[in-house]
Amino acid sequence: MATDEGDEGDKTGPVLIPFIPFICGQFLVTEQPCAASRYDENVTMKFLVTGGAGFIGSAFVRQILATRADAEVVNLDKLTYAGNLENLTSIAADSRYRFVHGDICDRELVRGLMRDERPDVVVHFAAESHVDRSIHSPGPVIDTNFVGTFSLLDAAREFSIPRFHHVSTDEVYGSIDAPHEADENFPLKTASPYSASKAGSDLLALSYFTTYKMAVTVSRASNNYGPFHFPEKLIPLMISNAMEDKPLPIYGDGMQIRDWLYVDDHCCGIQAVIDKGRAGEIYNIGGNCSLPNVEVVRRILKILGKPESLMKTVTDRPGHDRRYALTSAKLMGETGWAPRMTFDQGLAETVEWYKRNPEWVARVRSGEYRKFYETNYANR
Ligand code: NAD
Ligand code: TYD
Repeated sequence: MATDEGDEGDKTGPVLIPFIPFICGQFLVTEQPCAASRYDENVTMKFLVTGGAGFIGSAFVRQILATRADAEVVNLDKLTYAGNLENLTSIAADSRYRFVHGDICDRELVRGLMRDERPDVVVHFAAESHVDRSIHSPGPVIDTNFVGTFSLLDAAREFSIPRFHHVSTDEVYGSIDAPHEADENFPLKTASPYSASKAGSDLLALSYFTTYKMAVTVSRASNNYGPFHFPEKLIPLMISNAMEDKPLPIYGDGMQIRDWLYVDDHCCGIQAVIDKGRAGEIYNIGGNCSLPNVEVVRRILKILGKPESLMKTVTDRPGHDRRYALTSAKLMGETGWAPRMTFDQGLAETVEWYKRNPEWVARVRSGEYRKFYETNYANR
């Protein structure tokens, strides 16, 4: 097994797991910003959500409709391989919800939606969100993440949409040496086409505040996990492979560190920014739970009762960021938000969801996904 960063080469084999001290604390939370709407229930608040059929966007749509009596949602989604209307079955018949199938890069479609729907707030999730895909094929990432964000911002400007929230990621800060963690003023240092496209779109969104006085906010969240997560990302891939006794591919030495945030906590954080955040500001949203990848995978195996011998070291990801770390002190201080889910409980609930939904996994894993899996993991 490779132990030094940059020395992984083509070595493959079983994973030897060292003792890992990790940080994974929870805050004592007294207020639930998601539970009670501060709006007058007689006044409708219309959300134009982009990418609402994806993992986080669909959780946001479900949460908004469940927690805000005042909400109406229009969901614009292209339904790429990652978009799945099955994620929205529970709210599809809600009269306050409408789905629009389309591309955020289609400027005429986007203009028409802003003009006809006149949303009170745009919440922009739509993205090509996978680092490995962005390495294999950067074109669609730049188109959707940068040009698509421009298309939305410009149409929102033209029709004077009162609020625009742009959903971004801690990956824009790049790899950070311990014990440092990024606040919102931390320099941007991107490694992959994915993170570079997100950093570019963050800056573009903020320029619309500075130049056009549009009420833009940006949130940067850490790695999300939870139900309906497409099984190309670490946690759902490991759960679904382990359930089938397939090898679990660990990139490099597996000691890369990510901060894990339960998806509903992320969505509550976005609601807190929309409700109480200040225009022109960036808000970090973290899970306060930093773990090396091998520790995450080990816990998944423990929950499933599967052997650690399923873990297999594979060639590292090019440009692999070693450690992400951020502080959410600004969001917590200004809005009272805090992550509520402990990692062990969230992971157990997530594993349980995948055990109860094998058909969902089988369906999203068919077709296009098979081709990507072969490209990404063959000869690795
Ligand atoms: P996802 O890949 O699960 O979903 C993306 C959605 O966007 C899909 O429904 C897809 O069909 C849609 N989409 C893609 N291109 C589109 C286009 N051109 N027009 C319209 N719709 C399009 O992604 P996710 O994990 O839910 O991430 C959502 C957002 O959150 C992204 O902006 C991502 O950068 C950000 N984010 C994700 C994480 C994470 O851990 N997943 C962490 C922080 C931030
Ligand atoms: P991922 O879920 O792709 O999120 P991100 O790269 O955006 O943080 O990967 C999380 C971590 O897990 C990252 O360090 C790469 C690693 N990883 C593996 O070791 N094996 C895998 O098969 C995948 C998909 C990820």
